[in-house]
Amino acid sequence: MDRKLLKPSNINKLKDIRTPFYLYDMKLFRETVSEVVRLSSLYGIDVHYAVKANAGKPFLRHMASEGFGADCVSGNEVLCAIENGFSPDKIAFAGVGKTDREIETALKNGIFALTCESLPEISVINELAGRLGKKADILVRINPDIDAHTHKYITTGLEENKFGVSGHDFDALTGLLADCGNVNFKGLHFHIGSQILDVEEVFGLECRRAKEIARYFEDKGLEISHIDLGGGLGVDYEAPDEHPVPDFEKWFRTIAEGMTGGKRENPRYHIHIEPGRSIVAQCGSLITRVLFVKNGIDKTFLITDAGMNDLIRPALYGASHRIVNLTAESDHEGDTAVYDVVGPVCESSDVWAEGISLPAAMRGDMLAILSAGAYGQVMASRYNLRDLAPAVWLDWNGDEAVLSF
Ligand SMILES: Cc1ncc(COP(=O)(O)O)c(C=O)c1O
Repeated sequence: MDRKLLKPSNINKLKDIRTPFYLYDMKLFRETVSEVVRLSSLYGIDVHYAVKANAGKPFLRHMASEGFGADCVSGNEVLCAIENGFSPDKIAFAGVGKTDREIETALKNGIFALTCESLPEISVINELAGRLGKKADILVRINPDIDAHTHKYITTGLEENKFGVSGHDFDALTGLLADCGNVNFKGLHFHIGSQILDVEEVFGLECRRAKEIARYFEDKGLEISHIDLGGGLGVDYEAPDEHPVPDFEKWFRTIAEGMTGGKRENPRYHIHIEPGRSIVAQCGSLITRVLFVKNGIDKTFLITDAGMNDLIRPALYGASHRIVNLTAESDHEGDTAVYDVVGPVCESSDVWAEGISLPAAMRGDMLAILSAGAYGQVMASRYNLRDLAPAVWLDWNGDEAVLSF
């Protein structure tokens, strides 16, 4: 979070907005995107933003204007990407359960590739493409059986996961592709998980496995022109202010070295990646107010007006987000106290943090739950019939915050 926000004139601007709301820092976002654009051109790697992380229009429009492609996981995401300026020939569409209607949407719009996750899906795409008189461009998602060293709910590349085609189906896949006349096989896709912090080890292994598997199919006579290595780069949820822009350099370098020995031009494959979280997570905070300071037997609870329906990551994955008391830090700084910070939803898992030390808080204090830009607003629900938290877009004129709604 930009510390300039704590300036009293800026806090004043936030005060009148009804909480909870998501606050997105466009300056940090543009800096993050510039870094990715620089590395994409330096290493010759194509970037498809994973729309599922955050589908905010200002984010999408900016990335489209910077030449990003999109990675989508539903027909509506494909349409949303196109509406917001992404060129269809840079859109990939993954997902284990695409409906016929979604497949037809992709085919009619001529996207870069449908990323197929099973043999039956390839057969259905072949049939639907035939009916439409089209040839379907596809990548095949492979399950490389790699442990991404991350939370079990966001690991996707293990044999036990539902994603991709596993080794035992490789021969059948080769045969099927030969029989599917309405399908144009462009290459392979991998995505092994999210919030990966062992960058060199895990992505290095992914590259080695990707090359081995590509060679296996090439030996069977299939031509592979594209390899998509998915997303997954992790962000620093513990110290977001120290690393507002994730270490993209390390990620790009690891992939470039892993796939091409570091050379910019790769004679063999065109390389793609699909970052989501790493681009938007640090650009968003969930702003909430303290409704009550409640004394328990041996705990003090801060009860906020934002809950797990607004940001489900802590309840879903046990994820932790840093919390800043904006009001206290800007005007009544004093003693600290230890709190359990909890939401209002009628579930015991609606907890932001337990036993954390914060400046002594009062009813009405505004808190920022940091690093909430990815898998936050997009996963919100109206559970308990609560209102959805809207987005507020923050830009800067010098030290002064400029807000748009
Ligand atoms: C196929 C695919 N690509 C890309 C991503 C984006 O991953 P991340 O947000 O970790 O970068 C995901 C996330 O689940 C995914 O499933």
